[in-house]
Amino acid sequence: MFELEKPTPLQQIYAPLFLEKGVEVFLKREDLIDVDISGNKWRKLKYNLIQASELGFQKILTFGGAYSNHIAATAAACKRFGFESVGIIRGEELNANSNPTLRQATEYGMNLKFITRSDYQHRDDKVWINDLSEKYQAFVVPEGGSNEAALKGVKELVDEIDINFDYILCPIGTGGTLAGIIQGLVAKQKALGISCLKGEGYLEQMVQGLTKKTESWALIHNYHFGGYARFDSHLIGFINQFYEAHGIPLDPIYTGKMMYGFFDLLKKGKFPDGSRVICVHTGGLQGIAGFNAQHNDLLKT
Ligand SMILES: Cc1ncc(COP(=O)(O)O)c(C=O)c1O
Repeated sequence: MFELEKPTPLQQIYAPLFLEKGVEVFLKREDLIDVDISGNKWRKLKYNLIQASELGFQKILTFGGAYSNHIAATAAACKRFGFESVGIIRGEELNANSNPTLRQATEYGMNLKFITRSDYQHRDDKVWINDLSEKYQAFVVPEGGSNEAALKGVKELVDEIDINFDYILCPIGTGGTLAGIIQGLVAKQKALGISCLKGEGYLEQMVQGLTKKTESWALIHNYHFGGYARFDSHLIGFINQFYEAHGIPLDPIYTGKMMYGFFDLLKKGKFPDGSRVICVHTGGLQGIAGFNAQHNDLLKT
C-alpha cells in the first residue's frame, strides 16, 4: 500500500577529473523517486507511515523550518496516502503564504502551526511531544524524519544498488540518511556524510545514536559554507556548472554541498585510484524555487 515507484536509477556521470583520478562515479537518483515526495524524505517517511497506520493513527504531526523539504514531503505523502497532517513550523512571524514550500504544504492540506523559535527548541522533548500527540491525536515524526523507522527505509536505497562500490556519499542534516545508509553497507564499503551545517561532534553523536555502528563511516565538516543554508559564489557557480555539464539540478542546501565536497576531496586525492563512488542525490529540489525567489534567481533551472 505504501509504495512509490522504485528502484531509483543509478546514473553514471562523467567528468575529466574522474578520468584523471581513475574513479568511477554514479549518482543514485533519489530525486527521481517522486515529483512531490522526493529523495531521502520518502525513504524516511515510508516506515513511519506504515507504523502510524498499524497503530490506527489518521494524522501525522511533524516539525520543520520555513523551507523544510521534510515538511513539503510529509504534506504530499500524507495527502497521497490518506493521512491528515500537521506541521509545527519554526517562526511565529511566518504564515501559510510566506514562501513556496509553505504554500505547497498548505495546498496539500497540511495544517500549519507557527511557533516561536524558543518554543521550537522543545521539538525533541518527550513530554512536549506527547502533549502534541494527544492534543492533535497524531502520530509524531521527528524533525527531518530521522528515527529508527527511517533507517529501515533508507537502507532500502542501498539494497537497490546492484553494482559493487567502495564509497557512498550523502549530505547530512539530522543524520538519519547516513545512519540508514550505514545499515546497508557490506564488506569494506565506506559511507561519507558531507555535513551541510555546523555540527561537529553533535552530528557524530546523532549518527552514532541511530546506527550504533562505529566503523565504516565518517563525517566531513569542511563544506557547510558557514552553516545551514549559507552559501557563496563558489557553491552557486559549481551548482550551475554541474547543471550545465550533466543536466542534473542540485539544491543549494544539501546536494550542491555534497557534490562540491566530493569534487574537492577528489581533487585533493582522497579517493584511491580505481575507486567506485556512489553519490546519493537526496532530492530537495523543491527548495530551489524558494531560494531563487529570495536570491534573484541565482540558480539556473
Ligand atoms: C534533500 C536533502 N538531503 C539531505 C538531507 C539530510 O538528511 P538527514 O537529515 O537525514 O541527515 C535533507 C534533510 O534532512 C534533505 O532535505
